[in-house]
Amino acid sequence: MRKVRIGDFEASAIGLGGWQFGGKEWGWDSAHRAEDHRIIQRAIELGINFIDTAEGYSKGESEAIIGEALEGAARDQLFVATKLMPIMPTPGRIVRAADASRKRLRDECMDLYQIHWPNPVVPIGTQMKGMRMVREQGMARHLGVSNFSLSAWQKADRCLDGPVISNQVQYNLLRRGAEKLLPWAEANGRVVIAYSPLAQGMLTGKYSSDNAPGGCRKMNTAFTSAGIEAAQPTITALREIAQKHDATPSQIALAWLIHHPNVIAIPGARNVAQLEQNVAAGEINLSEDEFARLNEVSTTAGKGGLKTVPQFVGRMFTRRPAGAAAS
Ligand SMILES: NC(=O)c1ccc[n+]([C@@H]2O[C@H](COP(=O)([O-])OP(=O)(O)OC[C@H]3O[C@@H](n4cnc5c(N)ncnc54)[C@H](OP(=O)(O)O)[C@@H]3O)[C@@H](O)[C@H]2O)c1
Repeated sequence: MRKVRIGDFEASAIGLGGWQFGGKEWGWDSAHRAEDHRIIQRAIELGINFIDTAEGYSKGESEAIIGEALEGAARDQLFVATKLMPIMPTPGRIVRAADASRKRLRDECMDLYQIHWPNPVVPIGTQMKGMRMVREQGMARHLGVSNFSLSAWQKADRCLDGPVISNQVQYNLLRRGAEKLLPWAEANGRVVIAYSPLAQGMLTGKYSSDNAPGGCRKMNTAFTSAGIEAAQPTITALREIAQKHDATPSQIALAWLIHHPNVIAIPGARNVAQLEQNVAAGEINLSEDEFARLNEVSTTAGKGGLKTVPQFVGRMFTRRPAGAAAS
């Protein structure tokens, strides 16, 4: 498994996404909790040392499940990242939220604390003051952001006394807007954490317009008829390359992502079998021809930009369909 340096830590280039744990937004029931524990424990056995979660996932349950599953684990060999839900992110609220997260995670000092979305109302300088307090009070070792444009990331960095080490953004073969962040990240020792690396399952090739998933994925335009059609050339190329590697399309989609320097991909898994498949993608080396082919075929489908402030505002103030929730 390739490693990516994040702050003072050598992280596995394939991490584990934690939005699925607790499963409220994905439509799994509470009986799934035992499988969540098995996924986390198996991930660690297989050499995954980077786990992502957020206070917003299943109303804090994802953090609590990770905390339970890691009880007794060598925490200094793991890097657990969580995120602040930035609703009125004043310094006091940020410190209280960080304290609650570390308690759910059963960790004195979290490895990475991130602002989940830009908040257009509270100035970034005020938010960074709160983030700095979290670090100074020993609640988190590193600070990061999520869904920030390059200029917003750089501004957050300037406001903080020390680097904003990472920006977690949607990045996959169907959404390549995050590539605008990569040169700066690489030149400055920062990391792009790629979320929805499988386009929420679309890049597995298993979904079609008469077989689209529900739950939070009803919000994902990748699963509309137009989205599914636009993805087909990319999925065909993934299938062909996968055959040569005796792999699956989703493994090739992950191998393509971590072919980029300073990128950690954090696929979520519904079960241990998916997790094992995702981890094995860390051993696949694409040839330069295969990499170039995927770049070329995905250019049209993947030209979508980064999700940033306007979409955040939209998500805050528009009604969501029943069953859908914030990511
Ligand atoms: N910062 C943010 O705003 C933000 C937003 C979204 C996600 N995230 C983070 O990123 C992580 C990953 O993103 P995501 O969950 O949105 O999408 P994803 O990782 O692209 O897709 C996950 C889903 O794909 C399917 N899948 C995964 N591995 C598979 C395999 N090997 N074979 C077949 N199907 C497979 C599973 O669902 P099915 O089996 O039901 O298809 C799984 O729930 C999250 O867990 C979360 O930690 C962050």
